[in-house]
Amino acid sequence: MTALRIAYYSLRYTRGCWKSGTVDMEQLSHVLVALLLALVAAEAADLDGLQSHYDRVFSFGDSLTDTGNAAILPATAGGPFSRAPYGETYFHHPSGRASDGRLIIDFIVESLGLPQPTPYLAGETAEDFRHGANFAVGGATALDPALLKSKGVMTFVPVSLSNETSWFNNVFDLLASSAYEQSNIMGSSVFYFGEIGVNDYIFALFSNRTAELAVSLVPDIVAVTRSALTAVIGAGASSMVVTGMLPLGCEPELLALFPGDADDYDRESGCITLFNELAELHNRALNRMLRKVRRAYPGTTILYADIYRPIANLVASPGKYGFGNTPLAAFCGGGAGPYHFDMAAFCGTPDSTESSDPSEFLSWDGIHFTEAANRFIAHAMLRGLYNASRLTTALL
Ligand SMILES: *[C@@H]1O[C@H](CO)[C@@H](O)[C@H](O)[C@H]1NC(C)=O
Ligand SMILES: *[C@@H]1O[C@H](CO)[C@@H](O)[C@H](O)[C@H]1NC(C)=O
Ligand SMILES: *[C@@H]1O[C@H](CO)[C@@H](O)[C@H](O)[C@H]1NC(C)=O
Repeated sequence: MTALRIAYYSLRYTRGCWKSGTVDMEQLSHVLVALLLALVAAEAADLDGLQSHYDRVFSFGDSLTDTGNAAILPATAGGPFSRAPYGETYFHHPSGRASDGRLIIDFIVESLGLPQPTPYLAGETAEDFRHGANFAVGGATALDPALLKSKGVMTFVPVSLSNETSWFNNVFDLLASSAYEQSNIMGSSVFYFGEIGVNDYIFALFSNRTAELAVSLVPDIVAVTRSALTAVIGAGASSMVVTGMLPLGCEPELLALFPGDADDYDRESGCITLFNELAELHNRALNRMLRKVRRAYPGTTILYADIYRPIANLVASPGKYGFGNTPLAAFCGGGAGPYHFDMAAFCGTPDSTESSDPSEFLSWDGIHFTEAANRFIAHAMLRGLYNASRLTTALL
């Protein structure tokens, strides 16, 4: 139980390809300009003075995207990532983020030249949410806890994607009273769906160590992601980015907790093959759903953000990207094994230890990524989105 209690600080990911057919030119150029600027900003590091066509970002997800909600929510306040060494690299104090520094969403918002959205639980007024809102909560599941429980899956945080969309409705009502204002706000906002579902899968794997239960959740998780997407489209959203699932089999936490036989591991990467297949299954189902939603809502732009590929690339060739040679080990954690992960010595607890340089590590605490990895992933995702939009231009 203790292990599971800590395991809720899990997270997640994406990948993206998008189809052109239904996108109108005006929408497209809007998005293209923004993405191009984002790309340039990402590459140039000098972010000042760059403006996109967007005024704000609304984001959804779990601890991979949470910039402060879990630190406030009573069920999760005081958890590991509200303690040192979380935040040590960039903020120099725990910032409520599950990393040593910034998250993927921070880099994406910076690249768009926008101010950071306020964590939903940290704001109250329309003024607080003028620059958008982040609804992501560390430990959140895609599916409602009651549904998971009915399938024998225990959860630890009472927040699912449906809570996040109802929080969005609260903010939406707060920000605009007239239909005109609402449409202005929605048209100038980017909706970023960070990875969601990793906690559902991990809790399912803990509940039933065969992967069958986790695999059976894929259609449900994709369906609630669709509901969240259509809920914001219904409110007038036109520009959305939807992140896929990360390579679960390369997570130090799962590698440490699910020891297998030699043939359970990918020979080259050392990742657990079955868990990566689960993530790829999720991503294929997610992309099928996105294609259908694009056809159903022709006025919208929905990009798939690929988080799987950049992480798999980093695990395969860490040196090529400036990382050290232990991509499957946590920077901060414990235990004698190769993954430097032990629930009893979780990062931020008294028994945890740190390696010397987090910028050489992919994994910060065995579940979440280092700031260095988040920067790498965000920039790779932006390049993937840019490529996808270029491809679409060529097709038009
Ligand atoms: C999430 O939604 C469920 C179902 O409506 C509700 O019972 C629960 O209290 C909500 N959680 C939070 C933190 O608001
Ligand atoms: C685990 O999954 C298997 C295969 O679906 C099933 O037969 C078994 O009852 C499950 N066990 C639990 C505890 O849910
Ligand atoms: C983007 O396109 C370039 C050139 O075609 C290719 O080398 C690169 O791998 C692509 N990057 C991504 C993230 O898709």
